[in-house]
Amino acid sequence: MLGSGAREHALLLALSRDLSVTGMVCAPGNAGTAQLAESYPVAVDDPAAVVALAQEVAADLVVVGPEVPLVAGVADALRDAGIACFGPSAAAAQIEGSKSFAKQVMRDAGVATADAAVFTDADACAAHLRSAPPPYVVKADGLAAGKGVHVGSHVEVAIAFARDVLSAPGSVAVVEAYLDGPEVSLFALSDGSTVVPLLPAQDFKRVGDGDQGPNTGGMGAYAPLPWLPDGTVAQVQREVLQPVVEEMARRGTPFTGLLYAGLAMTSSGPQVIEFNCRFGDPETQVVLALLETPLAQLLLACATGRLDEAGPLQWREGSAVTVVVAAEGYPGAPAAGDPVEVGALPEGVQVLHAGTRREGGAVVASGGRVLSVTAAGDDLRQARERAYRGVDAVSLRGGHWRTDIALAAVEGRISLP
Ligand code: AMP
Ligand code: GLY
Repeated sequence: MLGSGAREHALLLALSRDLSVTGMVCAPGNAGTAQLAESYPVAVDDPAAVVALAQEVAADLVVVGPEVPLVAGVADALRDAGIACFGPSAAAAQIEGSKSFAKQVMRDAGVATADAAVFTDADACAAHLRSAPPPYVVKADGLAAGKGVHVGSHVEVAIAFARDVLSAPGSVAVVEAYLDGPEVSLFALSDGSTVVPLLPAQDFKRVGDGDQGPNTGGMGAYAPLPWLPDGTVAQVQREVLQPVVEEMARRGTPFTGLLYAGLAMTSSGPQVIEFNCRFGDPETQVVLALLETPLAQLLLACATGRLDEAGPLQWREGSAVTVVVAAEGYPGAPAAGDPVEVGALPEGVQVLHAGTRREGGAVVASGGRVLSVTAAGDDLRQARERAYRGVDAVSLRGGHWRTDIALAAVEGRISLP
């Protein structure tokens, strides 16, 4: 396993439940993953270092958590060395690595997405924004860890953001039409031709309750989505996932791994906001909390082009909710080094580690998002109550979390435009 977040902890936990797994290692890992897999301090975006580690531990399968190693070609290097890898090639990872590339793929595949214009010249971009109606959506073209997007209704602020993006040499800004409607994260497994969607989830990106404050890597999530009309997953599979996987294969860059469609449920149907080339965090924590099918066999089937042989996925009945506990100061300058303690947990709750490390006998915070407290329940209300009772068992000085994860869905307040 490559990565060190709650997503990787959730993946390791699900992999550990698969009886075909005999051992796991994780690079670089955190204090939580270390309970399941030995940690190796390897730079995960260094293809040669990852291949050397995989050979040293005789890995049968390497699962890549984050996007940066994929864009850096880690999956290519592993496959060239004859090691099975769950994760796309660098060329296929461009579906996340470049927003303009993703737009071209969608255009060629006939997939619905926001109209977009691409700029390298700041004055041309400013003129375009001035002629467009609000709200304005401006994106930096490359990987930006959630910080490369501006959505707002003030044209001068949007122009300033675009000028900032374009001040870096060789940079590209994408200006998009605003998509209205609730967002859905839909993950799909792909072996390059067969596509198997997982349960739909929703994440919460802003730091504060009521979607206030700055963007984060994600403050919580829930799955499945009680408000999503029946048939939506099948529709997205037919109209988005399958055409994109076919288009990637047609281009000679088949997509193997996890294709993550970020969708807006607009008045004219589901439209793509973005693709990611890996499991999303924190949605993975809730999706995997409900998956009963042995995960290692599924990921290996993707890596070896045999996903068509996997039967239908088995899911636990009910729902799952995760609440992220962040360090003081996150998403600005998070405090590090404070001790993290977890008391007795209610039934059905798992504490997944993100920014933690071991210091002597104690676990201390070492990153912005510290823990992802995840609960399954018979329904969304029960899962939510359990998750928040789990949060109550956490002690971290200055720790903060949203109190409204999955609340609007429990109260039936989400509607489609
Ligand atoms: P991205 O990095 O493309 O995922 O964008 C981050 C967030 O910005 C998304 O999850 C949306 O909440 C918002 N966003 C991005 N593009 C659009 C759009 N075209 N219309 C409305 N909201 C958007
Ligand atoms: N949940 C957002 C992401 O993983 O990018």
